[in-house]
Amino acid sequence: MAAIHEAAALIRGGGIVAIPTETVYGLAADARDSAAVARIYAAKGRPSFNPLIVHVPDAAAAERIAVFDDDARALAAAFWPGPLTLVLPIRAGAGIASLATAGLDTVAVRVPAHRAMQALLAASAAPLAAPSANASNAISPTRAAHVAASLGASVPLIVDDGSTTAGVESTIVAGRTILRPGPVTAEMLREILPVAPGTSAHISAPGQLATHYAPRKPLRLDAVAADDDEWLIGFGSVAGDDMLSATGDMVEAAARLFDALHRADASDRSRIAVAPVPEQDIGAAINDRLRRAAAR
Ligand code: TXA
Ligand code: MG
Repeated sequence: MAAIHEAAALIRGGGIVAIPTETVYGLAADARDSAAVARIYAAKGRPSFNPLIVHVPDAAAAERIAVFDDDARALAAAFWPGPLTLVLPIRAGAGIASLATAGLDTVAVRVPAHRAMQALLAASAAPLAAPSANASNAISPTRAAHVAASLGASVPLIVDDGSTTAGVESTIVAGRTILRPGPVTAEMLREILPVAPGTSAHISAPGQLATHYAPRKPLRLDAVAADDDEWLIGFGSVAGDDMLSATGDMVEAAARLFDALHRADASDRSRIAVAPVPEQDIGAAINDRLRRAAAR
């Protein structure tokens, strides 16, 4: 398929592509490339960074990025490929961009059962981070025309392979807890494991993380210079100990945000300060994360 070759070339170049899975159309990027992942958030106009699902071709590839226990292996054996997402500890050195997991130490991983997504995984040889391919707060797309209507010009390529079959987003399971109901039902899961619906320590409501990664140290916003014992994360003309984007590039700043916060936490300074970041475009998501981090 010519479209898959074009899509794989875009992915390898750090771009984004809309592609169907068996559930909904996803907006995919190389999960190891933080700038590419930032382009997903920018295109969706998300006001905050939700961790994304990482799609891989098979269970062996999933084991290279996540740490499986016996429960997870049993679910994977029963339902992959298919509309089940497992939240698991991230494997050290797996190379998944921290923006894809919103800085968490877990990763949501799934093996999709769709020829187009599987073909793109093979052709790009990359784990693909992909949320649903709709603008933030819009309805999930089940046809290429939905993607075009919702995201239009902000997506360079929509691979059209007809309507999706499952139509709702994948079931998400963490341990023995169903975080999001989906096509793999509780009854189906219970034939394998005694799962229960619920929330995890990280989640207050489906899709809503109560605590994304937040630094341990106090954080001050809109800083133009470092105070005593502060680690200053710069932006644009405000230089510091670290830099989100010297040129004021918002996508670059988003791509660097979580790594910069991790570095600040690990530094020898007791406090963190961050330069002002404009509220426009993906800056809204950057500032949302920073305000939450500062409020702790
Ligand atoms: O069917 C699907 O799952 C579709 C297709 C494209 O694969 N994708 C999808 O992605 O629905 P998205 O971003 O719309 O939903 C991902 C959900 C969010 O609710 C997010 O909070 C949760 O997965 N999630 C991702 N990583 C997580 C983590 N480490 N811990 C807990 N929840 C996580
Ligand atoms: Mg969604």
